[in-house]
Amino acid sequence: MCGIVGYIGNQPAVVRLFNGLRELEYRGYDSAGLAVLQPDGLRCFKTVGKLDNLATKLGDYESSGPVTAIGHTRWATHGKPTEANAHPHGLTHSQVVHNGIIENYVALREAVETPFLSQTDSEVIVHLFERHLAAQAESTPNQRVESSSATDDPAIDPALAAFRATLDTLHGAYAILLISETAPGRIFFARKGSPLQLGFAEDGCHFASSDAPLVGVCSQTLYLEDGHWGVATPEGLTLFGADGSPAVLAPKPLPASSLAARKEGYRYFMEKEIYEQPRVLADILTGRLSKQAVLLDELDADWLRPIASVTLCACGTSYHAALTGSYLLERLARVPARVEIASEFRYREPVLDPNGLFVVISQSGETADTLEAIKLAKAQGLSTLALCNVDNSSIVREAERTLLLRAGIEKGVASTKAFSAQVLTLWLLALYWGQERAVLSGERHARELSALRAVLNVMQVQPRVHERLHRLSKRYLHGHGFFFIGRDLFYPLALEGALKLKEISYLHAEGYPAGEMKHGPIALADAELFTIALMARSTLYEKVKSNVEELSARDATIIAITTEYFELADDIIQIRSYGHPMLEFFEMLVVVQLLAMEIAIRLGNDVDMPRNLAKSVTVE
Ligand code: F6R
Repeated sequence: MCGIVGYIGNQPAVVRLFNGLRELEYRGYDSAGLAVLQPDGLRCFKTVGKLDNLATKLGDYESSGPVTAIGHTRWATHGKPTEANAHPHGLTHSQVVHNGIIENYVALREAVETPFLSQTDSEVIVHLFERHLAAQAESTPNQRVESSSATDDPAIDPALAAFRATLDTLHGAYAILLISETAPGRIFFARKGSPLQLGFAEDGCHFASSDAPLVGVCSQTLYLEDGHWGVATPEGLTLFGADGSPAVLAPKPLPASSLAARKEGYRYFMEKEIYEQPRVLADILTGRLSKQAVLLDELDADWLRPIASVTLCACGTSYHAALTGSYLLERLARVPARVEIASEFRYREPVLDPNGLFVVISQSGETADTLEAIKLAKAQGLSTLALCNVDNSSIVREAERTLLLRAGIEKGVASTKAFSAQVLTLWLLALYWGQERAVLSGERHARELSALRAVLNVMQVQPRVHERLHRLSKRYLHGHGFFFIGRDLFYPLALEGALKLKEISYLHAEGYPAGEMKHGPIALADAELFTIALMARSTLYEKVKSNVEELSARDATIIAITTEYFELADDIIQIRSYGHPMLEFFEMLVVVQLLAMEIAIRLGNDVDMPRNLAKSVTVE
C-alpha cells in the first residue's frame, strides 16, 4: 500500500529518493515526503497529493556531502491524507517512515504522554525511540554515536538499543526506516509483515519496499525476512533476527527492467493482484479482530442503534460485493437488507426507509452513478456509509462514515483484490453489527471469528490449482457461451466470475442463480454451452447438484468447482473443504479469477487493459 525508500552515502540524496518514489508511484498514494539528515541538521518536506507537489516544495533543494535520508508515499489508513499525517514523522532529532499498521498504537500513545503532531499510528514509533534514547543517555551520559565510531552492538550502542527497545513494544505489521541526529550516517531498519529490502552500490546504501526503486541502481538486493532488524551504513549492515541473534542473508539478483520489477515477477498486474489478496486481507483484519470480537473503530454502537434497515448500492463488481453483503447482513446482523444497482436506483424515484442506512461500495470513490446515489439518499435524510478504496475521493467526502478498503491501488482494470477487500469488509461489518445487536449465539459468533482468522490462508493461490486452470483453459476458448451458476452467496460469486470472464476474454458469459436455469436459460443447453458450477459443500449442495444434473441431461459441458468427485462433471476443479460458506466463497473466488485470466491470456488479450473499459467510470 505505502512505499518506502532510503539512502545513505555522499551523493545528492534528494534526486535519488525522488526517483525511487517515482518508481513506487504506480501503487498509488495520497501524500509523500522525505527527510534529509546532513551535518548542518535534519530537514523534512511533506505534501499531500501528487509527487509533483513534493517536487515544487523541494524547489532546488539538494543535499551535498555525507547524507542520510528516507522517503515515503502514503495510502491513508489511520488518519486523513493531510500533510501532518504524511510520513516521515519526526521530532527534533529523529524521523521515521513506516508501512503497515501498529495495532497497539492507542495504548502506546497514551503511555508516551507527549503531544502528537499527526493522527497516524506510525508517529508513536519515533516518540518511543526518542524516549528510549533519552533513557539510555541518562544511564550513559555524554555518549553520542558518531558514524565513524558507531558500535553495532545493541548492548553498547545507545541508539541501536533504543531502536531495539522500541521494536519490542510494537504489535502489528511494519517496515520501518528511522534516522536520527544522534546517529548520522546510519539507517535503523526493521521488517515484520511488510516488505523491505536494501542494496549496496558504489554511491552508498539504498533501501526500498519493493524491487522497482532499486532496479538500475544496485545489481543485487537483500530481501529482509520477517523479524529482521538492524542498522546500515554506506559500507555495510548489521543484521539481527527477531531473537536478537546475528542474521545473514544471501543477495539476490534484481529484475532487468523496472516495469518487470513493478509486476514483481508476474505476467500481468491482474495476476499480481490476485496473488497479493492474502496480504490485502491481512491489512484489512489488522487491528480489527480481538480474541472475542470484531472491532471497527470507524463505527460505534450509538450510531448503528437507531438504524432499522440497510440499502447497499454500487456498480459492476462492487455491486456483486453489495449483493454478497446483503446475504451477510441479513444472516449475521439480522437487519433487513436490499441491494441497488446505482444507475437504476437514481431514476426510479425510490422510496427509502428514513431510519435506514445507505451503504455505497466503490473501489475508486469516483463512479458517477454511485456518487449521485449517495447524494440522493443523503437528501432523503438517511445515514450514509462508504466502503471505498480511495480516501478523500468524492464518495468518501460525501459519506457520513467510511470504512476504507485498504486494498492499495488496483492497476488491473478488471477488479480482483478490491472485490475481495469489499467482501471481507462487509463480512466484518455484518459481524460487528450482529455483535452490537446481540443477535448471534455465542457458538455462531465464535465460528465466524475463527473463519475470519482462516481466510488469509484460504486466499493463498495454490500452485496445483493455478497449473490445473492453466491446462484446462485451452479447452474453453470456443463455444457459444458460459453460464456461471450458484446459489445463495455463490450466486453473486457466479455473477462476478462471469463478469471477470467477459471483461478480459470478450467471450459471452452470464452469472445465474442455479435454481433459475430451468425457468428459461436451460433452453440454451448443448455441448457447446459451458457451465461453471459453483458447488459449495457448505451451502445447498444437493440442490445445486440437482440443478447441474438437469443441465448435464441436456448435454451441457459441466466444469464443477467443488470439494469432491462429481460424476457428471466433464472437468472438476477441486477445492479444499472447510465447512464454512465464506471460506469456500474466497477459495472459489480465486479460482474464477484465475480461470478468466488464463482463458484471456490464451486468447492473446491484454488482461490489464481490456478493450473498451476504463478503471474509473466518472460519467453516467
Ligand atoms: C469490473 C470493474 C467494474 C467496477 C465498476 C464500479 O472488474 O472493475 O465493474 O467494479 O465500474 O467501480 P467502482 O468500484 O470504482 O465504483
